[in-house]
Amino acid sequence: MKSFYERVVFPFLQTKDIELGYDMAVMGLRYIGNFWPLWKLMIAFNRVTGDRPIELFGLKFPNLVGVAAGVDRGADCWRGLEALGFGHIEIGSITREKYPGNPRPRIFCYPQYQSVIHRVGCCNEGAAVVEQKLAKDIAERPKTVPLGINISKSRNIPVEGAIEDLVGTFRLLVDHADYFSINIGCTHLPHLKKIQEKSSLYPLLKALKTENQNRAKKLGCSTVPLLIKIAPELSFKEVDEILEVITSLEYNGIIAAGSANGRPSEMQNIKETGFLCGAKVHQSALSLVQYIYKKTEGKLPIIGVGGIFDESDASRMIDAGASLIQVHSCLYLKGPFQGKKLARALKWHHKDF
Ligand SMILES: Cc1cc2nc3c(=O)[nH]c(=O)nc-3n(C[C@H](O)[C@H](O)[C@H](O)COP(=O)(O)O)c2cc1C
Repeated sequence: MKSFYERVVFPFLQTKDIELGYDMAVMGLRYIGNFWPLWKLMIAFNRVTGDRPIELFGLKFPNLVGVAAGVDRGADCWRGLEALGFGHIEIGSITREKYPGNPRPRIFCYPQYQSVIHRVGCCNEGAAVVEQKLAKDIAERPKTVPLGINISKSRNIPVEGAIEDLVGTFRLLVDHADYFSINIGCTHLPHLKKIQEKSSLYPLLKALKTENQNRAKKLGCSTVPLLIKIAPELSFKEVDEILEVITSLEYNGIIAAGSANGRPSEMQNIKETGFLCGAKVHQSALSLVQYIYKKTEGKLPIIGVGGIFDESDASRMIDAGASLIQVHSCLYLKGPFQGKKLARALKWHHKDF
């Protein structure tokens, strides 16, 4: 049965700019996050936990379903998202330099294809501002679920400056992250292909790892788990190269996958430019997860994301080898409580590392 959101709220938002609904949701979530008694009550009501947490790269996740990057792009509403029952939240992508993104409208929903096209363009306020917000939020109240921070190269920095740029972002944000996701599949960025190439990728990921180790040594604490997030349209040869790099550097996991560049034939007539997410990227994300799982003999933790709307999509992703899943488009098309519904339905699937 369709929810109130699907029957009433979403059709109304479709008549306007869908991002207005997004802005309103961020405001509402921020209010919930700031109003402690309501936040606490909602956590008690919405938090889904199995008989034990899922343990992955040294972190404990109360359930399998997380929020993908792009939902909270600037640490504006992650506290409110905690109250909706998600098992982890990945904020970002955050870049060292702020970027306003492309002009609106820039997010378009196609419920007939269960898909979203967007050209938000990695907009965010920059790592220094996000750091201040996180510091304030976390000082007020400890986190209740793992917080991932997704970082990307700043838009106007050339690939040659990527190491300094990303290490700078890492340094600014590391104290607040439970894990980092390095977005090497950020389809909004120029020279994307180059960053994913082995010759650029190895020194970049090595520099981040060294920074992480040096900090741990200096502070006498453990390193922060490092994951990478890849694009869905890589060839298996490209995936092999990436896997070679991350296994040799002992990265902690991989997130597959981000937004796609291409469109299926039935969506070719859509005029809006941008990147594709939702049901139409499910198959490619699933194939990637399956491939990575086989190739790494199940030894590398995988977070599966792409076109997960219901229990069967989520189960397929887990059967393909994902240890956790994330959702994004489904929050636009099915509403903010879909994550909790999924988490409840998947309560007994467990795959620890
Ligand atoms: C509006 C929008 C903005 C996004 N922004 C980011 C981003 O900044 N960084 C990132 O890694 N992924 C971003 N994504 C990709 C999602 O995190 C996710 O990988 C992708 O949407 C596939 O999942 P889905 O089919 O559940 O939407 C964005 C997706 C959408 C729809």
